[in-house]
Amino acid sequence: MHIPVMLNECLEALITDPSGIYVDGTLGNGGHSAEIFLQLKAGGRLIGFDRDLDAIERVQQKLKSGEGKHVELVHDNYANMTGQLDRLGIDKVDGLLLDLGVSSFQLDLAERGFSFQQDAPIDMRMDQQSGQTAGELVNTASEQELADIIYRFGEEKASRRIARAIVEAREKARIETTLQLAGIVERAKGGRKGKKTHPATKTFQALRMAVNDELAGIEQVLETMIGRMKEGGRIVVLTFHSLEDRLVKQFFSRHVPREESLQQGGVRRIFEEPPAKWISKKPLIATDEEQTANPRSRSAKLRAVEVGV
Ligand SMILES: C[S@@+](CC[C@H](N)C(=O)[O-])C[C@H]1O[C@@H](n2cnc3c(N)ncnc32)[C@H](O)[C@@H]1O
Repeated sequence: MHIPVMLNECLEALITDPSGIYVDGTLGNGGHSAEIFLQLKAGGRLIGFDRDLDAIERVQQKLKSGEGKHVELVHDNYANMTGQLDRLGIDKVDGLLLDLGVSSFQLDLAERGFSFQQDAPIDMRMDQQSGQTAGELVNTASEQELADIIYRFGEEKASRRIARAIVEAREKARIETTLQLAGIVERAKGGRKGKKTHPATKTFQALRMAVNDELAGIEQVLETMIGRMKEGGRIVVLTFHSLEDRLVKQFFSRHVPREESLQQGGVRRIFEEPPAKWISKKPLIATDEEQTANPRSRSAKLRAVEVGV
């Protein structure tokens, strides 16, 4: 089961016109989308994206157009969103939601190879139909490349040691499974030492982000979609770790005007077009109740802006 994170907070930030056009860039199990669709009125339109075909097929069973409301599902990377909207004849939209990262379905299904708790071939691709698997990456990238990936996308201090251990292990035999890889990382880090999180957590995150080119995708959808928002339209993003959150925060900050005093007196507003305003300056986090009920919500941060002056 994938429980939608901060559902009410997302919907409240997102929907301004119930007859408008809304895009969910990360359908997953359709938790947020189902609620968006419910809140839409006649004339309302929901476009849902996921690069995972399983997610599209799952949501297809749940959401059907009716009562004057329309739903369209698109199997594609959200980085290609504007091209897909062009194809659908849509210019501007009222709201865009991104609930970043992987779904519980992807994590829990051993054969998807995302988890260091279940043994399976190391895949980690969100789109199973394209791209290099994390197993191919681990077995072919140079030691330097691996260290860079693990440091940059995992913020893992022991990245060099882990990369060395991976290369030494694969010289003996190809690294085939998630548990094998988790064991190599754990030994390189000197065991668990009573830590709450598994020593391979950051390495697995880094490999997943690398094979799915996650940060570039987030950057691209934000850069291209901010110009496709209607005046007063909202972009709402749920992030789950510091790399995602920093990127989203910095992107929005560039569009929120700040005032600079001029030498000759007066002020000037500095911002990238189009201007936007924070819906809440500080990111929202899940309530204590939600954090207890759904551990995945503990690391969530909701950032949202309204586009326009
Ligand atoms: C956290 S889940 C979304 C859960 C959903 N909000 C719900 O409540 O059921 C993230 C989903 O986004 C998808 N995803 C991640 N990156 C993507 C991308 N670049 N393009 C399209 N879908 C992506 C994943 O495949 C996954 O299904």
